[in-house]
Amino acid sequence: MPLLSATLNRVKPSPTIAMTNLALEMKAAGRDVIGLSAGEPDFDTPDHIKAAAKRAIDDGRTKYTAVDGIPELKQAIRDKFRRENGLDYDATQISVGTGGKQVLFNALTATLDPGDEVIVPAPYWVSYPDMVLLAGGMPVVVECGIESGFKMTPAQLEAAITPKTKWLIFNSPSNPTGAGYTREELKGLTDVLMRHPHVWVMSDDMYEHLVFDGFEFTTPAQVEPGLYDRTLTVNGVSKAYSMTGWRIGYAGGPAELIAGMRKVQSQSTSNPCSISQWAAVEALNGRQDFLDDFRLAFARRRDMVVRMLNAAEGVTCPTPDGAFYVYPSITGCIGKTAPGGTVITDDQTFATALLEQSGVAVVFGAAFGLSPNFRVSYATSDAALTDACTRIQTFCADLR
Ligand SMILES: Cc1ncc(COP(=O)(O)O)c(C=O)c1O
Repeated sequence: MPLLSATLNRVKPSPTIAMTNLALEMKAAGRDVIGLSAGEPDFDTPDHIKAAAKRAIDDGRTKYTAVDGIPELKQAIRDKFRRENGLDYDATQISVGTGGKQVLFNALTATLDPGDEVIVPAPYWVSYPDMVLLAGGMPVVVECGIESGFKMTPAQLEAAITPKTKWLIFNSPSNPTGAGYTREELKGLTDVLMRHPHVWVMSDDMYEHLVFDGFEFTTPAQVEPGLYDRTLTVNGVSKAYSMTGWRIGYAGGPAELIAGMRKVQSQSTSNPCSISQWAAVEALNGRQDFLDDFRLAFARRRDMVVRMLNAAEGVTCPTPDGAFYVYPSITGCIGKTAPGGTVITDDQTFATALLEQSGVAVVFGAAFGLSPNFRVSYATSDAALTDACTRIQTFCADLR
């Protein structure tokens, strides 16, 4: 009998983490490598949030807490949902986990039976399909190409729904493309969902605060209140507050679902770190003015990266609405040969040759379910970005 389960064998390890690790190994071996593969802001966690964590330690808030969050954090989350999204939840409708990742995982584990389908628009965040598989469900991937701005159309959604569809996973602004759905575009999708009452919506709003050029963020239960009773609205402090290592994510949704998620968490990890929970209370309740500085820095970097990548031969780079990623197409590079002799047959050979020959680590599009593209995370210094984009331009110019 094999050691590893058949379910686990269908799952692949996170390619973004693999690429980041490869770049770190090359760096450790003395190679000059610029990493553009990690999905986290380069800013430090703001001082007032760190101070709240230090206070929590000094006050002895270092013991087990309620499984899915301390009452103070649940209250801060309820206030946030009401203030920013117009969504009213009571405390039984809030779940706090160890990062948005655990919250999504809990929800899928709590709800999927074998054969249940989950619609995942591609390009997708790398973990969605594998989380669905781990939970025993079937990911139904819907490719949303560059021509539709990497966004799913109502017709595509309608065509993907079957009697077995349990969830639609919705992510705006998106990792990996940065594409954001306007209120009208989202309404087009929620209108379809209103016609299919058996389909639930998992909205991953992780990049809510990172939107640019006046883009208006909206979330499904807000745009269509008729979906409130079958929507899980997921968010977290990782990206907006530069708190990726603290591991706090949360969700609001129907009490029965939240109770199911609590059951999963109670038998796996129990409560998220008590100290991080107090830090998250401060993140949500405290001053928010620094978010403007984060947004300005990201928007400036986005503009620079989009301009420099569009100047690279064979590369086309759309301008995203939010997050801190761009997802350029390399259609114009396919079939060419790099100076080292590698033929660029797909985005994986492109990314590998780029790393080996030019020392720039990006993530190939196949990892996100849409090719031929690559993802750049521009959450790094302006100097590193300029250097990396110049290297990409040279790499592309040298392709024959
Ligand atoms: C779209 C999306 N959802 C969820 C997460 C998970 O965030 P967390 O660090 O809170 O687990 C990420 C992190 O990369 C993400 O990009």
